[in-house]
Amino acid sequence: MSVQSPSLLLIEDDTSFAERLSRNLALEGFRCDVAATGRDALDRLAAQSYDLVVTDIRMPDIDGLEIIRRIRSGSDPRLDSTIPLVVLTSVNDVRTAVEAMRSGAADYITKESERPEIVVRLRRVLEQNRLLNENRLLRDQLARATEFSEIIGRSEAMRRIQEEIAHAAGGEATVLITGETGVGKELVARAIHRASPRADGPFVDLNCAALPDENLLLSELFGHERGAFTDAKAMKKGRFELAQGGTLLLDEISDLSPNAQGKLLRVIETRQFSRLGGLRTLDVDCRIICATNADLSEAVAQGRFREDLYYRINVFPIRVPPLRERVEDIPILARYFIQQFAEKYRRPAPAFDEAAMQMLCAYSWPGNVRELRNFCERLAIRMKNPLIDLQLIAACGLPEARPVAAAPVNIPDDGISLDRMEKELVVAALEKAGWNQKRAAQLLGISVDRMNSRVKKWGLRHPTWKVHK
Ligand SMILES: Nc1ncnc2c1ncn2[C@@H]1O[C@H](COP(=O)(O)OP(=O)(O)OP(=O)(O)O)[C@@H](O)[C@H]1O
Ligand SMILES: [Mg+2]
Repeated sequence: MSVQSPSLLLIEDDTSFAERLSRNLALEGFRCDVAATGRDALDRLAAQSYDLVVTDIRMPDIDGLEIIRRIRSGSDPRLDSTIPLVVLTSVNDVRTAVEAMRSGAADYITKESERPEIVVRLRRVLEQNRLLNENRLLRDQLARATEFSEIIGRSEAMRRIQEEIAHAAGGEATVLITGETGVGKELVARAIHRASPRADGPFVDLNCAALPDENLLLSELFGHERGAFTDAKAMKKGRFELAQGGTLLLDEISDLSPNAQGKLLRVIETRQFSRLGGLRTLDVDCRIICATNADLSEAVAQGRFREDLYYRINVFPIRVPPLRERVEDIPILARYFIQQFAEKYRRPAPAFDEAAMQMLCAYSWPGNVRELRNFCERLAIRMKNPLIDLQLIAACGLPEARPVAAAPVNIPDDGISLDRMEKELVVAALEKAGWNQKRAAQLLGISVDRMNSRVKKWGLRHPTWKVHK
């Protein structure tokens, strides 16, 4: 829904009244279409998407109550059964109004009402509906709200990123956030949203690597109509629709299948989409942010990622460097996290002794800020006195700090398959981790999602794993 100019279908057979009302509503910023018969109204609703329906009750062909019933019943998959409905009645016809509300109308207005009252009521219905839609999102978000949403860091790199966030927030261009696992890509995306004019709208995200098959992913993205496929028992809105007026973060974008890449490209180019199994086109009214810990230009070179899509999403690139490239952030992050966790576990305010801090700074943190944060939580849980020393650091299992160096690799003259090496590394890590995917992901410094997607890609199996549904 566009907040500024909601679209409305007015169903009214009294054309002079309809004209007057629609002119008045247009003055208030509504985009208003008029249908003079029930039949015409249902055709329009099937073909086009509206934010609100206002309908007269008595009409020659299909009356208002019947229209409400048909929409709410969900029996016609082309109709949005959740669209808010308001009925028009005359002053002395409260009984019909009540019946309409029972059938699923959100409110009624009498034809004699003054313009301000009508507008207030319509806006209230729209607002209620928006809240309803947001509810599902909020539940999602609350469940996984990051405990700390502030971006900490004083390094030159983080200062630059703060500037880029401010810059990106001022525009509408698609942002591509790249960086290793745990560097704070999602945090940056949320910060852009919060600083943007869309801050009051929803922030919606979708992890493109987390879904087991493509159809599920497409239906998460675009939603589906009732009956679009066997399990589609009811209409469902997709993330593009839920993000209306806000920001959509597409995480792990590199994992999109070629087909999904094509679909996404079309949406970005046309700024329109349809629900699966749906005929109506809906406008995309959200800012798109993509994130990935893969090297997309490399994926393009290898033909795994569409070049045209890459250029479309790489309009405003932000690279979040790994922690080992901004060691000066480690002390301030460590102090920040230990402070927070000490409070959470009701410990006295802690401090690091010098040797302990040096140790933290010398470690390479393959899991980046997330790993540091988790480590600080372990410290807070185990600390006995407020001064954190080397002993505690060792007891909490920090792998021996070592200089960061790439493993020496010799490329044979006839070349080497990166894909095969990656697979061998993944299997080796899984073996070392006792086939625990989370631990194996940590060993390789990648996200669990990325590990999952590799496991899926190569069809890796282990008897201890539960079979996927
Ligand atoms: N600069 C920072 N200041 C404070 N907290 C941070 C910072 N960077 C990351 N974090 C915290 O580290 C954790 C990981 O961050 P986030 O989820 O944004 O990483 P990511 O890059 O999206 O990781 P992935 O690639 O695994 O999706 C979160 O708890 C986040 O709050
Ligand atoms: Mg992330």
